[in-house]
Amino acid sequence: MKAKLFNLYLTFLLVSVWVACEPARQPQAAAGPIDNDSLLIKYRQEGKLIVAESFKALSKALLTAIDSGGVSHALQFCNLQAIPLTDSMARLYGAEVRRVSNKNRNPANKASEDDLEIMTMMQQAIEKSKLPSDTIFDDKTGNLIYAAPIVIAPPCLRCHGMPENEIAAGDLQLIRSLYPDDKAVDYQTGMLRGIWKITFKR
Ligand code: HEC
Repeated sequence: MKAKLFNLYLTFLLVSVWVACEPARQPQAAAGPIDNDSLLIKYRQEGKLIVAESFKALSKALLTAIDSGGVSHALQFCNLQAIPLTDSMARLYGAEVRRVSNKNRNPANKASEDDLEIMTMMQQAIEKSKLPSDTIFDDKTGNLIYAAPIVIAPPCLRCHGMPENEIAAGDLQLIRSLYPDDKAVDYQTGMLRGIWKITFKR
């Protein structure tokens, strides 16, 4: 009986020591710094270029759609073409190109926890009346992510401003039928609408 108790005690002791000696698991950083400066500069430049080109392509398509058929036509155009358009930029540049937001219209554009962290940082810069800066970091899986702010300008308000005041009633109805869970309204000029997120897979 004594021997049994001793064995039990020994097992308990060994398990405790083994658990204590196991190296502590480091919590994974959501967004880590990159220690290679030249890599950082290279991807930041590439990210800036992809954002500039994607923004140009989207704005041109949006303006053409508004010109040809008004806001309601442009809404339907965005509904069908916004993601395919950024996907075509992605294919062109070999990186993932997305626009994400904490108040997303399309459910596919919902910001992740990491995206929300970046948005908070940019939001704080806006509150200090500074221009929010772009940023680059490696994510949990080692991919490099370039993120740039998307800020509301007056032309955005027709589709993202105050319902029934800046967004016409008919357009609002269309938005709600295309996006039953839409959160992307009530913005004012200068507010952070979301981020461009360019992912370079490594
Ligand atoms: C004609 C209406 C219209 C105008 C004007 C417009 N948007 Fe949008 N916006 C949309 C629609 C529709 C979507 C959803 C697109 C989709 O389904 O992928 C959207 C999506 C977005 C998204 C992606 C995140 C999300 O919520 O799904 C961002 C960011 C965005 N708009 C920013 C802007 C900004 C900034 C402007 C002004 C420069 C602007 N939009 C002007 C209709 C518009």
